[in-house]
Amino acid sequence: MKRTKTYVITGATSGIGYAILQKLSKDNIIFAGYRNSDKIQNWEINKNIIPFYIDMEISDSIKNAAEFIKSKTKKIDTLLNVAGCVVAGAVEEISIEDIKRQFEVNTFSHLDFTQRLLPLLDGGKIINISSMASYGMFPFVAPYCASKRALDILFNSLALENKNNIKYISIKPGAIATPLWSKSIENNRENLKNDNFNAAHNYLIQNALKNEKKGLNVKKVVNIVLKADSAKNPKASYTVGYDAFFVKIASRLPQNILNKIIKLGLKIKIKGNDNDK
Ligand SMILES: NC(=O)c1ccc[n+]([C@@H]2O[C@H](COP(=O)([O-])OP(=O)(O)OC[C@H]3O[C@@H](n4cnc5c(N)ncnc54)[C@H](OP(=O)(O)O)[C@@H]3O)[C@@H](O)[C@H]2O)c1
Repeated sequence: MKRTKTYVITGATSGIGYAILQKLSKDNIIFAGYRNSDKIQNWEINKNIIPFYIDMEISDSIKNAAEFIKSKTKKIDTLLNVAGCVVAGAVEEISIEDIKRQFEVNTFSHLDFTQRLLPLLDGGKIINISSMASYGMFPFVAPYCASKRALDILFNSLALENKNNIKYISIKPGAIATPLWSKSIENNRENLKNDNFNAAHNYLIQNALKNEKKGLNVKKVVNIVLKADSAKNPKASYTVGYDAFFVKIASRLPQNILNKIIKLGLKIKIKGNDNDK
């Protein structure tokens, strides 16, 4: 008989996190993180789910969430760091406050939360939903790319240094059809308004709308998460989707050649977007 496992997951109210929650909560105990209580009404039908409040921008809430989990269990099999958002815009104009917020939500909060839960993770796994953006190739979303790269570097070292056989796995999805895309337009309206970068920003917005509808089904990410979670010797990193695999390969090119390809690709896409209008 399969053993009931204990999971902790942040960002469980939407998209990838919610899909993982639905899949895992049938046979396991899940501590599921939310920041908006309106969004957890549909969880209550399942007694395996233990909701906890966490806002990745509020350090007290991270501390309290970890304390709450520690008061309820002595062991976590897998910690899934999923919560995330996108800060977009041209680097020469974006405010430092916005960039700090990006790192707060996508990087520092996850490390803070994980450090607090490490005593419960002996011999367990940490699975982070990173992104193909971690390969650092997308102009106008550099804060997002940098936050995911930093997340991967910090957690990879954590796993290398740790003495308690904790395995770290970075999942790097390509474009997945989730509400992240429309949220990223909504949350970056001001940054995407600037006239200097009008054509690029318009392309970015149209591309986000397309990805929300035509991106890969969220189940593809869930399947890879399940595969990594059940593997005795999981890989340190998994891409999800052909786009992510292509980006991984392309990232090995010398930077000046890669930059030429990215510039040309962006030019073609912006032109195509303008013609579609
Ligand atoms: N969709 C993609 O194409 C894609 C590709 C690669 C990687 N990813 C990564 O996958 C992860 C999940 O994204 P998704 O696509 O499933 O997007 P999503 O549907 O927008 O889900 C994001 C989750 O994170 C939560 N969250 C956002 N900011 C938070 C904060 N400050 N404090 C606490 N929770 C917060 C959201 O809560 P609310 O429900 O309250 O908003 C939601 O539960 C993210 O880390 C994202 O970077 C996504």
